[in-house]
Amino acid sequence: DEGLHPAVYPWPHKGILDTFDHASIRRGYQVYREVCAACHSLDRIAWRNLVAVSHTADEARAMAEEVEYTDGPNDQGEMFQRPGKLADYMPPPYPNEEAARASNAGALPPDLSLIVKARHGGADYIFSLLTGYIDPPAGVEIREGMNYNPYFPGGAISMARVLFDGLVEYDDGTPATTSQMAKDVVTFLSWASEPEHDERKKYGIKAVILFSSLFCISLYVKRFKWNVIK
Ligand code: HEM
Repeated sequence: DEGLHPAVYPWPHKGILDTFDHASIRRGYQVYREVCAACHSLDRIAWRNLVAVSHTADEARAMAEEVEYTDGPNDQGEMFQRPGKLADYMPPPYPNEEAARASNAGALPPDLSLIVKARHGGADYIFSLLTGYIDPPAGVEIREGMNYNPYFPGGAISMARVLFDGLVEYDDGTPATTSQMAKDVVTFLSWASEPEHDERKKYGIKAVILFSSLFCISLYVKRFKWNVIK
């Protein structure tokens, strides 16, 4: 069973010249931090990656400093705790896989760094998954502790519905509906999967302009040089 195909959504960053909606990345980070981070790690993103993307350097530094990191060994060969800094990576919710599974009835919440790339359907799939929890249809039995979601392959997922209207309070005043939070967190995770996305498109345009100019010049030069022979 493949799971229901998600709808195709008009993500603002979808077009070949479109960059991410950075206000949405910022709101999405808040949803990740306040909701998803309780169970999901985001190993490939460091605090510094947020700077000039969704937060100022001061904001990112302040958020990092709220987290205690284990460092060391020091001169005495001891490990020690210190507040986070911009170079540190997002703290994981569990120390290891065993602890993660023990807290989730045996299931492993996957790291979300590359999830948008890793899952078939990408952003559309994850948005549909987060907003798609419904009661199982008549005749479908769901095991105790599992949840029905038609978008999840197999239909039974161990992650329960986590987004409900009003769950977070956005500092830009955007109403935190279930679908708004899903859109924002998926935008954030799309950025996390491809932090170079905006630059890539910018260089893409430059490359097209540059190479078409060079092509035109070469055509002109060719006609000029072959003039005497033809
Ligand atoms: C799986 C996203 C919050 C526990 C997943 C998957 C995604 C996801 C994309 C993978 C589904 C797949 O394999 O196709 C999110 C997001 C969250 C969130 C964006 C916040 C908005 C949570 C929370 C918990 C949790 C708070 C724990 C209470 C799990 C577990 C799985 C999972 C256990 C594995 C499910 C299975 O394989 O059956 N989540 N999640 N998630 N999540 Fe979450």
